[in-house]
Formats: sequence, structure tokens, C-alpha cells
Amino acid sequence: MYKTKTCGELTALDAGKTVTLAGWVHRRRDHGGLIFIDLRDRFGLTQIVFNPQTAPDAHRVGSEARNEYVLQVTGQVEKRPAGQENPNLATGEIEVYVTEARILNAAKTPPFVINKNEDVDETLRLTYRYLDLRRERLQQNLALRHRVIKFMRDWLDARGFIEIETPMITASTPEGARDYLVPSRMQPGKFYALPQSPQQFKQLLMVAGYERYFQIARCMRDEDLRADRQPEFTQLDLEMAFVEQEDVLNLVEALFTDLIHALAPERKMETPWPRLTFDEAMAHYGSDKPDLRFGMRLTDVSDLAAQSQFAVFKNALAAGGQVKGIRIPSCAEYSRRELDALIDLVKSKGAKGAVTIALKADGAHSSASKHMPASEQQAYIERLDGQTGDLLLFVADSARVVAEALGALRKEMGARLKLADVNALAFAWVIDFPMFEWNADEKRWDAAHHPFTSPKPSDMPLLDSDPGAVRANSYDMVCNGYELASGSIRIHSRELQAKIFSLLKIDAARQQARFGHMLEAFEFGAPPHGGMAPGIDRFVAILCGEDNIRDVIAFPKNQQAQDLMMHAPSEVDADQLRLLHLQIAPPPAQSKI
Ligand code: AMO
Repeated sequence: MYKTKTCGELTALDAGKTVTLAGWVHRRRDHGGLIFIDLRDRFGLTQIVFNPQTAPDAHRVGSEARNEYVLQVTGQVEKRPAGQENPNLATGEIEVYVTEARILNAAKTPPFVINKNEDVDETLRLTYRYLDLRRERLQQNLALRHRVIKFMRDWLDARGFIEIETPMITASTPEGARDYLVPSRMQPGKFYALPQSPQQFKQLLMVAGYERYFQIARCMRDEDLRADRQPEFTQLDLEMAFVEQEDVLNLVEALFTDLIHALAPERKMETPWPRLTFDEAMAHYGSDKPDLRFGMRLTDVSDLAAQSQFAVFKNALAAGGQVKGIRIPSCAEYSRRELDALIDLVKSKGAKGAVTIALKADGAHSSASKHMPASEQQAYIERLDGQTGDLLLFVADSARVVAEALGALRKEMGARLKLADVNALAFAWVIDFPMFEWNADEKRWDAAHHPFTSPKPSDMPLLDSDPGAVRANSYDMVCNGYELASGSIRIHSRELQAKIFSLLKIDAARQQARFGHMLEAFEFGAPPHGGMAPGIDRFVAILCGEDNIRDVIAFPKNQQAQDLMMHAPSEVDADQLRLLHLQIAPPPAQSKI
């Protein structure tokens, strides 16, 4: 037996027992005579003591050992002398006096410190991920991830859901990203696609009569990476038959509420979760995934600006736009440079500029004071409930640009001023999304969620006359400024599905080639159905207080979608290419790029 106890379980009650432990040298202190080692395994740390007088052979092993060596020791558990207990350590009441010791394996000096939670260069961490994963922070994150997934499985199992696996090499299913393709050896020139989600399979499982399906599903998307996006990620994929939107929202809200109560009871969460329509979210927060841990709402001043002589405001309103402002507390004394940086931020989101009013102790100072009388400024200040010390910032533009610009500013200032309570989990539902988004490049409508989403029955007549005004039966779950899940009630009629495909400019031939199986399945007794898919990585990252989902994934990719440890992607042998009927084209000439 390598170990009779773990490094995390011995207490004063074990004093006097002989135990065998095995683990890694976490820290070693050589006091000339006695050597102390904190021995670490996944379950904790135990202080082991080597005494040259009573166990000289073991002591020799202790003096050879270095950080990250793998050791096995046998010894006697003793209570630590009074005053030397460590209340921060589960095993802090005891130490083990080693009688026998064996080095199971040596370790080179690691490229970064493992026993401290120091910032380490990301490239180094990902290259030596197995060492990074030894660190306490990642061990805790992955353990919590495990408990989250286990909770979800058990909770859904108790409510009649069954987990069903769906294929990894399959045909493309549109979720708005590029596919990862897998060339076929048996069918020259043909490709499988890795699933962007199991969307079509779960709907087909509803047609097949499974009624309550879930899966801890891996999804692959070849898209530009961000802190909350990996090329390969995990969803809790759910689908239910005979449900309406309300059933899905209630189920998912109950699951997450119970989960938080069980696994993170210290976190603050308002229940029931607030609900916002997409229009409300955009109007008040300038985002369809607002961080509701703080206010700083966007305030419409268009009605006041309607009387303004200021050309910027007048022109925006005349073009059908709006004027909105935001009140930023305690920033009235921002310097010219700091204000310029804020204006650059709103410009980067498409705004042409911004008007500021700084409410300093000696009165209001506006960047547009030449263009608007004090009385007009006063009206805006009152509308925004401006107080001395506040900075007010206004943008005049189309509703979309105003929302994007002020939404980005709200997010930035919320973070800068630390307005969000880090302990809070501000869940909310965003509902009534538009069905379509205009794709200006391709001059066509795209599905805002995915093409299997049903329109609101009341908006059906608008499908032909005004597609942009059609709202979908789709919903997002948001938390602390992240989109954690999306879902919808699906189309289950062939006619409607074909009509939506046509609106998306997928002609009849392509509908048949790509989605003929879905259209046909809807003719074989497809029940009404709907579902959603919470992203596990994003949710666990929020629970762990991590800004990047890489820190809750065991083996993530870097920003360039590379696995630095496994050296993926990599070149392959010419033989492999030949078997797959592939040739690598030379890189395009510079002039042709
Ligand atoms: P959607 O594409 O909105 O919906 O994805 C659902 C959730 O998956 C997570 N997610 C990601 N997480 C990490 N990295 C990524 N690249 C990434 N992309 C998405 C997010 C997101 O909210 N089939 C539909 C769901 C449905 O309709 O039931 C779908 O996949 O948390």
C-alpha cells in the first residue's frame, strides 16, 4: 500500500497512530537538525518531521528531497507542541515523525513556483500545464467544476431526465461560428464537422420520444478567442418536449438556484431572477447581457434634447436617433486626458463623440457649454439626478450606437470604480430577442439565435412584412455581465421551418441537402419542444472568481487556439495526408492576400 491515509485527514484524534503517507514535497525547511517537510497530495498538506537522532536513515532521505520530489513516508502521528498548531491547515494539530522514508521519484526544479499562488507567464503555464494543474488554485477550480457537473447530473436525473451522448464527428450544425472539419478517409473529398452544439440531435431525440434529455456536451467552434471563449467548451445541453418557454425558464432557474444554495451558499443571489426583455436590457444597460450587480443605468434625455439648439443633438434626433446619458459617480475631477480616454472608448463603439458635464464643487463644467445654455444643462443634470462629484456623459446617435457606446462605458466604469459586489451572483433572464439580425455584408437576414428557433406566434404575420420586427421565442440566462446560456422554443412544423430557412436565404436545394432530415423528421409526429444550453465553463469561472475560462478547464488552448503542451495543431505525415486525400496548398502569394 502506498498510503494508509491522505495528507488531508489526520487530526489530534489520530495521535499515536502509525501511518504511511505519499505525496509531493510542497515545502522543505532544514533546521540543521530537524527537517520539516509539508507533504502534499490532492487532499491536503501534512507536516512531516525527520529527526537525525531517532531515524538517521529516514533523515538522510529527508535531506536529499527537494520541492516536488515524490515521497513515501511511514511514521507516528503526534500532536504538535502547544502554541505550534496551525489553525489554517486541516491537519494543523498534528505532525508525523518519520521512521521510514523512500523517494519514489525525483523532480527537476519546476519552471515556476508551485507552492505559491503567484502570477506566472501564461505561455509557461500552458506549456507545463501538468505542473500548473498541481497548484492549489487550479485544483480547487477543477474540484468545484466536478461538483457542479455532478450536482447537475443528479438533479436532472431525479427529475426524469436522461443523459444521451451524441456524435462528435458529424455534419455541420449552424451556431454562427466556423466549423472544425475532419477529412474522411473512406469518402474521398468529404468532411465531417465537429459539432458546434448537439442542437439537431437533441431536437431529433425529442422527435424520437425521449421528452427530457440532457448531456454534458463538448462543443467545438472555430471562432476568435476571448477570455470567455475557447474553441472547445462544455455545455449542459438540455431539451424537453411538450414545454413552453415558461417551463424551460422555471426548470433552469430552479436547477441553478438549488445548485448555488448547495455549493456556494455564501454567494448573494436575488430570487426569483429578474426578467428583462431584450429591448429593456438594451435601453437601460446598453447590453443584452447586463451586469446587474450595479445600477448606472442609461437615461433617455431625448425629450429634453428635442428643444436643444445644439447641432449634434438636433441632427441625431432628426435622423431618428436618441440622446442618452449616464451618471458616473465620483469622477467629476477627471483630467482632460482621462476624459479623452472615455470619449475614445465610446468612439470605438461607433459614436462620433460624447458630451460631458462634470459636477465640480464650483459648479457644472460642460464640454458643450458653448452650445447649450446653463438651463439646458440643468435639465439634463436633474434628469440624471446628478450630484456634486458626478461626471455625466451623453451620446447622441442611433439607438444601436447609443446602446453600444454607453453600454461599453457602463461596463468599463463599473469595473474601474469597483461598483459590483464580487460576492453577488446577479442572475437574470433576457427574453423576447429579435428573431433576425441584418447581415449588412451579405445583404440578408441571419438567425439571431439559430435557424431552429420559433418566432412568437403573435409576430408571425410580420415574417413577410417586417422580419426585423419579429421577436423569437428565445431567451438567455445572464449573470454578472456574462451570457451563461441561450435557448429557445423550437419550430416543429415542416412548413414553418422551410419558411424560416427561405427567409435566411437558404434555397430549397440547400435546405434539402443540409437539413432535409430535420424537415422530414417534423413530418413524423414531432412534438412541441424547446430547451437551452448553459455554458459550464463560464458558469464555473464565475463561481471560482476567475476572469478567464482557461482557469477552469484542465487543458485549454491559448489565444491562438494552440495547445502548447501537446503541440496542437501540428503538421502531419505525408502518408496521413495521402490517406485522407489531402494536399497542402502553398501559402497564397503576398499580392493575392
Ligand atoms: P449558444 O451558441 O448561445 O447556444 O451557446 C450556449 C452557451 O454556450 C456557451 N458558449 C461558449 N463557452 C465557451 N466558449 C465558447 N466559444 C462558447 N460559445 C458558447 C455560452 C453560451 O451561452 N444550441 C444552442 C442552445 C439551445 O438553443 O438550446 C447553443 O449552443 O455560455
